[in-house]
Amino acid sequence: MGIKFSLAVVVALVLAALFGARAGGHLFFGVIVPYIAILLFLGGVVYRVLQWARSPVPFRIPTTAGQQKSLPWIPHSKLDNPSTRGQVVVRMILEVLLFRSLFRNTKYEMQKGPRFYYQWEKWLWLAGLAFHYCFLVILIRHLRFFTEPVPFFVHGVERLDALFQVGLPGIYISDLVFIVTVTYLLVRRLIIPQVRYISLPQDYFPLFLLLAIGVTGILTRYFTKVDLIKVKQLTMGIITFRPVVPEGIGVIFFIHLFLVGALFAWFPFSKLMHAGGVFLSPTRNLPNDNRIRRHINPWNYPVKVHTYAEYEDHFREKMIEAGLPVEKQLEES
Ligand code: HEM
Repeated sequence: MGIKFSLAVVVALVLAALFGARAGGHLFFGVIVPYIAILLFLGGVVYRVLQWARSPVPFRIPTTAGQQKSLPWIPHSKLDNPSTRGQVVVRMILEVLLFRSLFRNTKYEMQKGPRFYYQWEKWLWLAGLAFHYCFLVILIRHLRFFTEPVPFFVHGVERLDALFQVGLPGIYISDLVFIVTVTYLLVRRLIIPQVRYISLPQDYFPLFLLLAIGVTGILTRYFTKVDLIKVKQLTMGIITFRPVVPEGIGVIFFIHLFLVGALFAWFPFSKLMHAGGVFLSPTRNLPNDNRIRRHINPWNYPVKVHTYAEYEDHFREKMIEAGLPVEKQLEES
């Protein structure tokens, strides 16, 4: 159900752009939709980050997976149970750049015997990492449409990516790996029963959407060979707020752009916001110094408290009558 629905939404988006652009809606698909998508993206990200920043975090709740800092002769696991800001930063860098927690992931399976087997889940980590890096490389390469002059590192990434010099225009390694890894992530969800059971439309949708973006991008570059000069006029027009819609850009480009617009507009309200959330997650950004520092809620205000001593003063006579132990006896009169 979730799969069909997500696929149907992506197909509907493709068809909407296909017929819309064919019917001459270039201004709508080339300018208005991108502006709406950018506004929703920026506004949504700011909204989500403010929501997170405003949420009270009254306890230290870092995820711990190793020995906390304790007595000097007990080895402290600095990365898995960081106790200082510095250690948190190192853990965060390894998490963001190498997906360290996913690397340590294990799965268990019942096999013949019957026996439980623990296995290292390396393929998910590898595909996830490769997918994210290729996505980044593709985004960096796309900067050539939005910059004038194009920065040197964009050319550098382009040259490295087309290292194999296969085909004309040169095939980018990142394009191939992007398609292969997104397909892997999708197929994995479909064929592993436990993963399929917990998957929702919002899990399938980004995968179908990314696949469609990749395929339309590849069609634009390698098959329909869009006029890149005109594309650049359009994109520069958007970012300089002097929109123009040059004639003669192929329909497939507008489909690509529309799908990217859908992705950007939807991004802040979806699970894809993990990209920003990882930095604001108290399970990741707090050191575990519960036993080192006394943590007092910053919003604590002076509260009138009733101490035990006062309580006993109040009820001493009744407590003694009821046979309850007291700290101070009744004064002799
Ligand atoms: C999430 C963002 C995007 C992704 C994942 C994506 C993905 C891709 C992929 C995989 C290709 C194949 C060739 C290549 O890698 O260069 C491509 C090509 C292309 N994309 Fe995108 N794209 C994105 C955003 C955009 C945007 C915002 C534009 C607006 C101009 C755009 C315009 C193009 C064009 C014109 C090509 C053909 C490039 C060429 O002929 O060299 N893409 N895209």
